[in-house]
Amino acid sequence: MPSNIVLATILITTISILAKNAISLQFREAPKFYNSVKCPSITRRSAAANICYNNAIHVAMTLDAAYRRGSMAAILSVLQHSSCPENIIFHFVVSSSANATHLRRTLSNSYPYLRFDIYPFDDSATAGLISTSIRAALDCPLNYARNYLADLLPTCIQKIVYLDSDLVLVDDIEKLAATPLINDAVLAAPEYCNANFTSYFTPTFWSNPSLSLTFANRKPCYFNTGVMVIDLERWRAGECTTKIVEWMELQKRMRIYELGSLPPFLLVFAGNIAPVDHRWNQHGLGGDNFRGLCRDLHPGPVSLLHWSGKGKPWVRLDSNRPCPLDALWAPYDLLQTPYIIES
Ligand SMILES: *[C@@H]1O[C@H](CO)[C@@H](O)[C@H](O)[C@H]1NC(C)=O
Ligand SMILES: *[C@@H]1O[C@H](CO)[C@@H](O)[C@H](O)[C@H]1NC(C)=O
Repeated sequence: MPSNIVLATILITTISILAKNAISLQFREAPKFYNSVKCPSITRRSAAANICYNNAIHVAMTLDAAYRRGSMAAILSVLQHSSCPENIIFHFVVSSSANATHLRRTLSNSYPYLRFDIYPFDDSATAGLISTSIRAALDCPLNYARNYLADLLPTCIQKIVYLDSDLVLVDDIEKLAATPLINDAVLAAPEYCNANFTSYFTPTFWSNPSLSLTFANRKPCYFNTGVMVIDLERWRAGECTTKIVEWMELQKRMRIYELGSLPPFLLVFAGNIAPVDHRWNQHGLGGDNFRGLCRDLHPGPVSLLHWSGKGKPWVRLDSNRPCPLDALWAPYDLLQTPYIIES
């Protein structure tokens, strides 16, 4: 394996230098995955919408240029570990400036049996709301698409599992999707009450009672927005998109936080979310945002590996400087190597 990677890396590096923007990634075809006999049959709810099914598991992801290889791998990991893969319906949010026909074809080539739909997201809707943050990648508008899922997806979809593109599942997504949204919670995610919650907001925020009182009467804890189970009906009823956007608008006028899309979620939901076992978001495997050091797993069982942080496994594998855990991502990589160049 290592010598193949070395050769591929040399080739890839050369090609990227020669033809930086002419490369169109080509992906292999994934095998077909079948339902086990115990799976409920999914039934179409209306003749019009080809994605409105009862008993289906709905999964939302973004599909942007920089993370496409990650998304393709994440899909494979979801299907491979699912006991009812044919009951999973994917919802991909893409930039409205991307070629949706090309993306649809890319998905269908690798996943001929996949049920999915594509939702163009108007980046300009958020462009004016995004403040600069410590890492340019966080300012990618598709990073904010998760705020708008309830508006983008058809109302027949009541519940969704949202997944970032830099992760792989090693367990059945059905278990995650079945998370009870107790106490009328809008969303469920693993919570981290030992994290220093204060540090996610600026002194300007904490010193202004009319702002910081938003956390009165709740015990806010940090949660990572890369893995969430969202009740879209409750989200719509609670006008959560509007609440998030209001905080983003305030951020443009006075700096109340430093990071990108996460803090508005914390402002609206922290302390009021339903818990999910930490095994469903073993995050931080990308390393820290400054030095890109390798990170180890947190103690405990693992159902989902998440390369949040600066380093991405496909970049490190290509450059032949992988972190040890990147070897767990590699089996899900569908990229054709050597790269095929489309002009
Ligand atoms: C979009 O992609 C399709 C399929 O790859 C291609 O035929 C078409 O020319 C592309 N359109 C544009 C505007 O690039
Ligand atoms: C938490 O973060 C704040 C602001 O960054 C800092 O002032 C405070 O000392 C931290 N608390 C702990 C317990 O580390």
